Formats: sequence, structure tokens, C-alpha cells
Amino acid sequence: MQTQTQTKIRKAVFPVAGMGTRFLPATKANPKEMLPIVDKPLIQYAVEDAIAAGITQMVFVTSSTKRAIEDHFDSNFEMETLLASKGKTDLLEIVRGVLPKGVTCAYVRQPEALGLGHAVLCAREVVGDEPFAVILADDLIDGADHGSCLRQMVEQYEGCGHSVLGVEHVPPEETHRYGIVKTDAPIGRSARLLGIVEKPAPSKAPSNLAVVGRYLLTPRIFELLATTERGAGGEIQLTDAIAKLLEEEPVLAYRFQGRRYDCGNKNGFLEATVEYGLKHPDVRDDFLVYLRRLCQPELF
Ligand code: G1P
Repeated sequence: MQTQTQTKIRKAVFPVAGMGTRFLPATKANPKEMLPIVDKPLIQYAVEDAIAAGITQMVFVTSSTKRAIEDHFDSNFEMETLLASKGKTDLLEIVRGVLPKGVTCAYVRQPEALGLGHAVLCAREVVGDEPFAVILADDLIDGADHGSCLRQMVEQYEGCGHSVLGVEHVPPEETHRYGIVKTDAPIGRSARLLGIVEKPAPSKAPSNLAVVGRYLLTPRIFELLATTERGAGGEIQLTDAIAKLLEEEPVLAYRFQGRRYDCGNKNGFLEATVEYGLKHPDVRDDFLVYLRRLCQPELF
């Protein structure tokens, strides 16, 4: 594949303006991205994915009910003073570590709920004319030994300078929940994209390879988004703009290594809670005993 002149990926866009209706009533007054898996909100896992990929500028596309996200990534003077005065240095470190030194945040508003493509377009002025990442916090990805999902994707980008989409195989009956791609024959874990369609019915899907919430995009996408009409669900779809990008530039689909939890629905959220609980040093031992008792009471 032809290599383009490339720029380092420094910025990540987090579309967080959605209502999170699947988690009502929990999300009536709280952003869904602030729901915790064990002790960390989903949005923090997403930001950590970006930081592990070398990204230093986080751009949140928010709405009026999302102030808690801004507060989470700000310093909390009262809490920090209290923890310091009590000598609770470990907790102080956790609070201060939410946003490591050298990482900055910017917030832009999405005035209307016009879809993911529209949300990304709202970040245009802040991102400017450089390649950037888009991260959907609903998709929690544990790269485990393979490292951050976005880090893996940035390595692909650094090899070619083209847009990269994080993809995985989904059950064929679930294609209507995702952007679905058609690709050329893969080389290793990546393949050149031939087509992409938003939420096709299983009978119309070109494959069962789905785009999950990780994208690396060249800035050309902004111009294409600006002229993208409303598509599936009456929303401006990022998928449709990527389909146009594909006519002008190569785009890669990359099958990342790791486990994705769809925390946009209750079952995925519960699976993540159990599995992250079983890995968390503070709770794992007691939690494992509890789960064993629950599943096999006859052994106790
Ligand atoms: C969005 C995208 C879709 C993608 C999915 C990944 O859909 O529009 O293409 O596959 O995220 O989670 P949503 O889940 O917001 O409906």
C-alpha cells in the first residue's frame, strides 16, 4: 500500500452527547459515560486507551447534561486538600492520576442530537487539519497483553498514513447494530476497505465484520461530513462519510487484539463488571469466592 506523508496522531474526539436511554433511570441525571466498571467511569477507560496510544489532547463533544464529565477531568481542590491533610497519599494519587500531566481536555457542544457524524463534525475547529482518533466510550476494549487497542491501531497508521478502523467479527444476526465493512483479502490483521454500510439487516450485510468504537481518521473526513446527508435513523452517519472517503483515499480495517465489551447495553456492561472485578486487586479474591458460592452452592 502506498505510504503518505503522515503526521503524529495527537488528538482524540469523544462523542459523549448521547442520552443513554438504555440505562434509564441511571442516566436520567448522570451521563452514561460516567457509569463505573468496578471503580472507574467508562469515559476514563476510553481516555486511558488514548493516552496509551500517545495521544495528549482529548476533545469531548458534549451536551448540557454532561457536566460531570468535565468535572471528572478537572482538579478537585477540596477533595485533594482533604486527602493530603489526612495523609491519604494513595487516594490522592488516584484522584490526581485521572488526568496525567501533559494531557489536556477541550469541550465542544453538540447543539442537536444529529448523530455520530454530526458529533465528530462539531470537533472540527478544535482538531484542525490533522489526523485524529474517535473513541466511543461505550465500547470498552481490554487489549490485555497486546496493549491498548488504539495503540495497536496507531502502529498500523504509522506504517501507512491512512485512516484505520477498529473492527471485529460479530454474530451475523447482529449486523443491524453496527457499521459493517467489506474488505479485500487481509494481510495479517489488516485489510483494505472496499465498502462500509451503517446497520444493514443480516440479509443485506456485506460481511459480519463490524466497526467498533475506535477510528483513526484523516482530516479530509471533516469536509466529507459537512456535505453528508442524513442516513440510517435520520442521523448524519460517520459511516456514510467514511464510504465517501474510501472513494478518495485508502482506508484500512484492523482486527484489533483484545476483548471488547459492549457497555452500551446492560448485558455487555454486566460482563465487563464481572470480568474487571475478577482482575481488580482490591476485590478479586473475595469476589471470586462469592461467584463460586453463587454458581455452585452445593460445593459450600
Ligand atoms: C455507532 C456507529 C456504528 C458502529 C458502532 C460501534 O453506532 O454508528 O457504525 O459500528 O457505533 O459501537 P451506535 O452504537 O452509536 O448506534
